[in-house]
Amino acid sequence: MKDTISLIIPTYNEKDNIVPLVERIHQALSGYTYEIILVDDGSRDGTIEAAESLASRYPVRVIVRRGERGLATAVVHGLKFATGQIIGVMDADLQHPPEVLPDLIKALEAGADMAFASRYIPGGGCPNWGLLRKIISKVALKISHLLLPATRKVKDPLTGFFMFRRDNVNADRLKPIGYKISLEIMLMGDFRHIVEVPFIFEERSAGQSKLRPQQQIDYLKHLLSLMSRTGELAMFIKFVAVGLSGVVVNEGLYWLLTRFGGLADYDYWAVIISIEVSIITNFILNDTFTFAKRRRGKSFLGRLLKFNLICLSGAAIQTGIFMLFTRIFGVYDLLSLFIGIVVGFLWNYFVNRNWTWK
Ligand code: GDD
Ligand code: MN
Repeated sequence: MKDTISLIIPTYNEKDNIVPLVERIHQALSGYTYEIILVDDGSRDGTIEAAESLASRYPVRVIVRRGERGLATAVVHGLKFATGQIIGVMDADLQHPPEVLPDLIKALEAGADMAFASRYIPGGGCPNWGLLRKIISKVALKISHLLLPATRKVKDPLTGFFMFRRDNVNADRLKPIGYKISLEIMLMGDFRHIVEVPFIFEERSAGQSKLRPQQQIDYLKHLLSLMSRTGELAMFIKFVAVGLSGVVVNEGLYWLLTRFGGLADYDYWAVIISIEVSIITNFILNDTFTFAKRRRGKSFLGRLLKFNLICLSGAAIQTGIFMLFTRIFGVYDLLSLFIGIVVGFLWNYFVNRNWTWK
């Protein structure tokens, strides 16, 4: 017997979309056993009534949530009512075409435990978008790939149109903020084999988008929360602490070499030696402490060389920024130095995280 598919669809004021949505899903899923769980947050445009009127003809269940609002938490709520082994999540406004559902199901049947409908693989896209919306979407994507490297294996982890096997997720661990339920489930679930199938993000056919600037703030909060729950934030904080210890090593060794080591007249040698030694002590601490869980299989020497290279290029970036800000922009030198330090530090962290200890 085939698995039952539970489609969880959050709705808020989607009255004119709900009937064509359910009809198209029914067409697309002929031959499958499925149920639709609509999670509505108290729409006042007649969505709930329109949805309930479908329940006699289609396997539709309407859950009305009172008090709480939000796309991602609505999906988590819907999960409690889903009976299927395969869970699908999509929007109600027909921007996610139901005809793609069989492709997602087939991907799971072929062995994947999670499947994304993707705009950013060949065959997918969002042809109706203006330049600004495209840029915002790409920036949001790059930020998630940078801050949460585990999302890199998916080209479009932000679509909100995806399927997964229920057994791979413990619902108690889901604590999303805002819109990006797909990120939450991907990172909090235990997935081994994630695939993407292409789709075209359609124009909204009726009603209005609920996307507001608040959602962008929520997105950043959600990323921070995921960084904290996946251990990324802890690595970042440890890297900062190690960096500070490097300052102590650098200053201390310089002091020893110039005061007691006979390098009083060769202070540039003292600088070079103490910088290099602090890079090596930083490396050892990061390798055994900050990124202890990420060493697997790679050679010690290779990591040391990468780390060294990144730190030196970080110092070059810092110097370049200092020169640019003081000479060209006429910025106060201590402020220029500070900006350089911050940018150089972020460079060091993210390049090391994504290359040396990827
Ligand atoms: N229950 C509930 N509660 N549903 C909501 C809420 C809410 O607070 N806010 C939005 N929804 C529902 C809408 O009714 C719609 O079905 C779906 O969630 C998506 O909302 P839209 O307002 O249409 O969002 P969008 O088109 O701007 O954003 C979509 O595109 C993004 C990709 O660019 C969403 O699919 C995002 O998940 C996706 O990342
Ligand atoms: Mn939409």
